[in-house]
Amino acid sequence: MINQINRLLAELDTLKANSQEELESLRVKYLSKKGEISSLMNDFRDVAVEEKKELGKMLNELKEKARNKINDLKESFENIISEDNVIDLTRTAYPYHVGTRHPLSIVRKEICDIFARLGFSIAEGPEVEDDWHVFSSLNFADDHPARDMQDTFFVMHGADILLRTHTSSVQTRVMEKTQPPIRIICPGRVYRNEAISYRAHCFFHQVEALYVDKNVSFADLRQTLMFFAKELFGQDTKIRLRPSYFPFTEPSAEMDISCNLCGGKGCPFCKHTGWVEILGCGMVHPNVLKNCGIDSNVYTGYALGMGIERITNLKYQVKDLRLFSENDVRFLKQFESAH
Ligand code: DAH
Repeated sequence: MINQINRLLAELDTLKANSQEELESLRVKYLSKKGEISSLMNDFRDVAVEEKKELGKMLNELKEKARNKINDLKESFENIISEDNVIDLTRTAYPYHVGTRHPLSIVRKEICDIFARLGFSIAEGPEVEDDWHVFSSLNFADDHPARDMQDTFFVMHGADILLRTHTSSVQTRVMEKTQPPIRIICPGRVYRNEAISYRAHCFFHQVEALYVDKNVSFADLRQTLMFFAKELFGQDTKIRLRPSYFPFTEPSAEMDISCNLCGGKGCPFCKHTGWVEILGCGMVHPNVLKNCGIDSNVYTGYALGMGIERITNLKYQVKDLRLFSENDVRFLKQFESAH
């Protein structure tokens, strides 16, 4: 019997299984009720008493070893992932999903990077603001419709606490605390009391730029705009300035770029005009400089502001604004390679 046990012990060391079936037949051979070890256990009953102690111990060790061996083989099977029984040690343990940047963040970063290359630095301000920073300091007349509850979300009645309707409020925040030269770019979220539809939302995002120094002229503004448009939409892009009105700039203008879809030939996207509007701009109104404690006889400046959603639509043709805030991963995943 000792010989048999030793033979089986040696056999166990050399066991191999190349398929689930082979493994199962090994289990049956050694560990099942009719297996070799069970039959030794049966023979054990007839063994002389003086031998029982030693043989019993050996039999238990054999059984333990057989169990461990079969388990080891089973585990190594479960680790085998490819059909050729090769274990890919470089594979991650589970599928690893990397998040993607939001399209608005991608475009905001692109805009800020272009201005950073011109020496602008980022400035931020609060979203919950007061009337002074959003309207009064920026030369809005007392009866300007933007001050109406219809357009602006008021947080506290009578106390003039409101959600900013544009990032121009950051201009005031910075000019109040800093003397020129000032060269800032201010990205941020803004709020307006609009019914939500595919083309309007009650919150959206803007980027504002402000440059105040001695001898800043409209020509500087135009040159900056041209550089910006070409960097963002490609070197063939043309710009066009149309006179406009904003209380905080004089003169004011709106800038169009040649339609980036049809290259200016005219298409449904640009309503066959060849041009699409992208931002508002102008020379900072002397009243705004005065309101912020900057001497308007010494300094001049330009400002510009644009909606990030608008630029993103132009770059990626997102037709429905609401997609930006719905967090639908099927939409967001499409921007995986854009950053
Ligand atoms: N604040 C304006 C708006 O929300 C955008 C704007 C226009 C900003 C002209 C400017 C500017 O700085 O000069 O519509």
